[in-house]
Amino acid sequence: MHGMTLFPPLSAESRSLVDAIPPLVDRIFPLPGQFRRTLPDNILELSRLLTNNRGSRTASYLGKPALLSAYLRYFLPWNVYRLCRLLPSLTPRLYPHDVIVDLGSGPLTFVIALWIARPELRNMPLEFKCIDHTQAVLDVGKNVFFALAGAGSAWTIKTIKGDIHTPVYGKRPALAAAINVFNETHQKLPHIVSLQNEADNIGKRLAVLAPQALVVEPGVPRSGEFISSLRNALIRKSFVPQSPCPQPGRCPLAPHVTASGGVYGGAKSKWCHFAFPTLDAPETLLKLSADAGLPKERAALSFLFAVNGATTPENEADAPRANADLQARVLSDDFPLPPLAVGRKPLAGRYACSKKGLVLIWGGQDAIGRLSAGALISLQVSKPEKRDKKTNALLIGLV
Ligand SMILES: C[S@@+](CC[C@H](N)C(=O)[O-])C[C@H]1O[C@@H](n2cnc3c(N)ncnc32)[C@H](O)[C@@H]1O
Repeated sequence: MHGMTLFPPLSAESRSLVDAIPPLVDRIFPLPGQFRRTLPDNILELSRLLTNNRGSRTASYLGKPALLSAYLRYFLPWNVYRLCRLLPSLTPRLYPHDVIVDLGSGPLTFVIALWIARPELRNMPLEFKCIDHTQAVLDVGKNVFFALAGAGSAWTIKTIKGDIHTPVYGKRPALAAAINVFNETHQKLPHIVSLQNEADNIGKRLAVLAPQALVVEPGVPRSGEFISSLRNALIRKSFVPQSPCPQPGRCPLAPHVTASGGVYGGAKSKWCHFAFPTLDAPETLLKLSADAGLPKERAALSFLFAVNGATTPENEADAPRANADLQARVLSDDFPLPPLAVGRKPLAGRYACSKKGLVLIWGGQDAIGRLSAGALISLQVSKPEKRDKKTNALLIGLV
């Protein structure tokens, strides 16, 4: 059972370019002696600020030199790496002289990753409008980008100090990207209803901005719920999810609010996200992460690429069809299941998304473990269909 992978390993060229980022950052934004010693601590502090310690973070946290320095040396290369594993699988339609707007650009992470991961776009004249609360981080990012791409790059960069509602004048962008931005707001929201309202507002904003939207968020439960809610919001604005969704219908992982005010779906144990090993990440980055007490053997993300008015998810059109009656996208992670009978081999299970809703694929631990997160696989549905009593997932055994 081989599936089309969503996160292919970096190409040799991408790998050497991603490896080149930490030394480039050192050249452009040298680390003063006092920060060199405290870099691992600053990374840890920033990581706490960005995850569980949000109350004490100000909007301009990246304007503080110690935190900016930590961002450039840890989050920038990791976010570029994660995007470079994803971007080769996506198919945004971009033509010469298109405009791309990047919301919450930080140090131009998305622009840098797109340049590395999509070499066929490098000579295409494209204009990027990069918006962020903090001008200082945009400025460093611009320097890093041109150091990488060369001063004569065909891409032009306009940095704009502003927020996600700042008007974007001129030609309508072809693509709106927002990478690791919305979690800064929605982590603070107290209830799923406020998360859904926030997703609705952001969906409307993205739909006004451009006909193609790419949103990537950390691979944590709250972000998975946000992405599912944003998917609903974009569908209401005539967008069709292209990736990772293998189907344009209801998201089986979207959180629902019941009549009594309770919430189901979006359960803690399953949310739409993908995790993959980081064996091809820069060695210096892996070491720095371990030194900071944040070892990263796997990278995780939740994302959505959606296009206004598209007819079908791209995956549906491209998927291998031989002998198969159901295309399913494998989610993270596998988990143990009890053996069918005493003395039989232990089993494992794994959730996947399909047009029949959530699928629970089960089989031997080796076979289930070999499925890579994000793979699009072909499954045969046995008749009559069987569903898991607890989750209502369609049960499919790997044979
Ligand atoms: C975690 S960083 C992500 C930066 C970059 N996109 C990346 O993936 O590395 C979040 C960025 O979003 C910016 N930001 C957060 N909320 C914003 C908003 N409402 N409007 C504009 N920028 C925002 C922050 O200043 C910060 O640079």
